[in-house]
Amino acid sequence: MSSTEVARTRAELEAARSRLTGSVAVVMTMGALHAGHVELVRQARKRADSVIMTIFLNPLQFGPGEDLAKYPRTFDADLKLCQEEGVDLVFAPSPDVVYPHGDPGIRVSAGRLGRTLEGAARPGHFDGVLTVVAKLLHLTRPGVAFFGQKDAQQLLMIRRMVRDLDYDCEIVAVPTVREPDGLALSSRNTYLSEFDREAARALNRALEAGRAVSAEGPGAVRRAARDVLVREPLALVDYLVLVDPETLDDVPEWYRGEAVLLVAARVGRTRLIDNVPLTVGVR
Ligand code: PAJ
Repeated sequence: MSSTEVARTRAELEAARSRLTGSVAVVMTMGALHAGHVELVRQARKRADSVIMTIFLNPLQFGPGEDLAKYPRTFDADLKLCQEEGVDLVFAPSPDVVYPHGDPGIRVSAGRLGRTLEGAARPGHFDGVLTVVAKLLHLTRPGVAFFGQKDAQQLLMIRRMVRDLDYDCEIVAVPTVREPDGLALSSRNTYLSEFDREAARALNRALEAGRAVSAEGPGAVRRAARDVLVREPLALVDYLVLVDPETLDDVPEWYRGEAVLLVAARVGRTRLIDNVPLTVGVR
């Protein structure tokens, strides 16, 4: 087991960061680590000489009434996992380290893409995400950063920010890690009762049903996915959309090519999201 340094303050981060040699990758998380986060670390280790993980539960991306207060906090277990996976440096600041002047008056604006889908359900969420990602990129100075396809809209917005604001950092996407039954791993899965989990599985089943008929075109994909979800009344669907991966606009019936099928649903008191990339209308 290699030793993992822990930095809590900016000064500790700066000192530890300057000791890292070679290329540096970052994996940003909010903690409550699971096999999805571990996969990001493994991919990062393959690509870079040193890996930094940030563990920061970012208040800026939670709306009033969301789950900030009850979000699982498992720092000791997280650190152990980082040690086992060979993370070189964990940056685990408190909110006053990241936001020393309180709520930042100046934020990164996610723009139009930040107001659709997840952004429509969670106003201001993506501004909060992009603002902290921007700050953590400045603080950790990586050559490459790893993000999960699980949060497809977040990944797209981060790619756009890095491009539009001239960050000198490569963004690498990592495919979604799932339970054997298809449920996408998420820190929020700990909120689910056994009963809820059964309903939660319908999300992935719907996406797979859509993917199975992707050659038949957008209409068939949407129908197949919807048919699965209507048979699971405990999954309250917020959106089920088949969109262009670059614009997040619904693809028209004549569309052929790359698309993403995205779903968000409430199961019990938990909001879950999932997606699959697919190629539509191509036999
Ligand atoms: P968090 O939800 O902790 O996720 C951290 C990273 O792990 C994200 O890039 C997310 O897409 C990825 N991830 C989560 N579940 C995954 C899974 N099942 N398979 C593969 N990757 C998965 O996303 C955030 O934190 C925050 O918004 C953050 C980017 C850290 C900014 O605060």
